[in-house]
Amino acid sequence: MITVDAALRDARSRGVERLDAHLLLSHVLGQSRAWLLAHGGDALSSDQAAAFDGLVARRAAGEPFAYLVGEREFHGLTLAVSDAVLVPRPDTETLVDWALELLRGKLRDVDAPTVLDLGTGSGAIALALKNAAPRARVWAGERSGGALAVARENAQRLSLDVHFAHGDWWDALAGEPEAPAFDLVVSNPPYIAADDPHLAALTHEPLSALVAGDEGLADIRRIAQGASGRLRAGGWLLFEHGWEQGAAVQAILQRSGFGEVSTRVDIEGRARCTGGRLVG
Ligand SMILES: C[S@@+](CC[C@H](N)C(=O)[O-])C[C@H]1O[C@@H](n2cnc3c(N)ncnc32)[C@H](O)[C@@H]1O
Repeated sequence: MITVDAALRDARSRGVERLDAHLLLSHVLGQSRAWLLAHGGDALSSDQAAAFDGLVARRAAGEPFAYLVGEREFHGLTLAVSDAVLVPRPDTETLVDWALELLRGKLRDVDAPTVLDLGTGSGAIALALKNAAPRARVWAGERSGGALAVARENAQRLSLDVHFAHGDWWDALAGEPEAPAFDLVVSNPPYIAADDPHLAALTHEPLSALVAGDEGLADIRRIAQGASGRLRAGGWLLFEHGWEQGAAVQAILQRSGFGEVSTRVDIEGRARCTGGRLVG
């Protein structure tokens, strides 16, 4: 028999942070953190102890917290996540906020602006945009069938009407006769170079969501170069990218026919999003 306090101590001794240990035990017991503090002497059932022990082992091995509890908050939404998708990051809210600024500013006179999220993963960006700007007609493309299933499930659970398309970047729209010309396209594509040392800390997330060729710029280049077929003249294309890639992404956009190119910083002040407007 093990008590709540003893289980938490055991997790700490195995290298799991105090907050994570509390949240994992809350998850297993279906109780709040306040409840844990008030019931330190209560015994866990053997099933609860085994479930907690398994989660502690996975967390101690470096698995993202979000995979263990199966969900993550993003831009005010609770999204289901699995190991088929990248765990949505707070940094990506910078991209969402920039897109919302355009929808409420330069695109405010468009009745039902058409928006596309390329490489939607869990659906995070597309769903956050539809939630905050319901008048937008939101589409989302994704190559991974596993990720697309997670995104569809999130859309259904949150009752957000997003149209999903399966396939490689712009090709995902090839079999979609209803696909409109887009006013705004956003993408957080893979942008980490294959030899980047930061990858060592990301072993639990799908490599196909993280790594791109050409020093991390290959997917950004393909999306920018293919945009003119689907983005209407005067429409916007915004990317998230690595904090040292701002100048390179600006150059890619300029060479792909974009003007008004600029870069935004994330919540930590690092250059993380670059976008521009397709010259008509
Ligand atoms: C960095 S993750 C971003 C996921 C999600 N948009 C987010 O911000 O949390 C990149 C996503 O692009 C998808 N992807 C990678 N290559 C792709 C391709 N060639 N065509 C379409 N999607 C692709 C991956 O499966 C992954 O879901």
